[in-house]
Amino acid sequence: MKKGIFISLEGIEGTGKSTQSRLLSEALTAAGYEALLTFEPGGTRIGQSIREILLKPDHKEMSFVAELLLYNAARSQHLHEVILPALERGAVVITDRYTDSTVAYQGYGRGIDIELLKSIDRISTKGFMPHLTILFDLDVQVGLERNRGVNKVDRFELEEVAFHEKVRSGYLEIARLEPQRIKIVDASKEPQDIHKQVKDIVMERLCR
Ligand SMILES: Nc1ncnc2c1ncn2[C@@H]1O[C@H](COP(=O)(O)OP(=O)(O)O)[C@@H](O)[C@H]1O
Ligand SMILES: [Mg+2]
Repeated sequence: MKKGIFISLEGIEGTGKSTQSRLLSEALTAAGYEALLTFEPGGTRIGQSIREILLKPDHKEMSFVAELLLYNAARSQHLHEVILPALERGAVVITDRYTDSTVAYQGYGRGIDIELLKSIDRISTKGFMPHLTILFDLDVQVGLERNRGVNKVDRFELEEVAFHEKVRSGYLEIARLEPQRIKIVDASKEPQDIHKQVKDIVMERLCR
């Protein structure tokens, strides 16, 4: 039985996942919790190497299946090396992206069959899912524009708007199917307003 709480932050590019995961982690630490902030793809030495392969803009020839399997490889390493040990210690684990990202991007975005994708997830995570997921929802153009401001370029940012629209609506569909786990937050507001809303959702879950 895992003692900690596992929280994932999800959403398309530029929705504020990195910003909000940092603010949440700081707020939890200030409130006396052991908060562990981590991210995907990455979060481990091996995961970081896989991340470079996945995001390199030059890797245009990568097949959708290679992409899917690399994400799963990174996630399996992340789960066993970082997430599960921290939950054993009773920490609050906050991850910037997890399995829902794969369902949204490789499933709804790339068009890989969702059931097939979930069967691969059963190999990499045994279906271990977050206790709570916060989905930041935002207009695609606004999100891409925000990231352009910081000159961030990766293979996904180079995708067409239509791809990101499929990912966004995929995320909303995932949230519709699991309303108990996934809470949708409007990411168009000011960072501090969003943070307050996130904190309220998380505190409600922690005090249960
Ligand atoms: N609520 C917000 N309103 C306006 N800009 C934001 C907001 N949240 C984050 N940003 C800015 O948008 C960019 C992308 O934010 P980031 O947290 O990196 O998003 P993500 O990790 O989801 O791609 C950063 O430059 C960040 O400072
Ligand atoms: Mg980020």
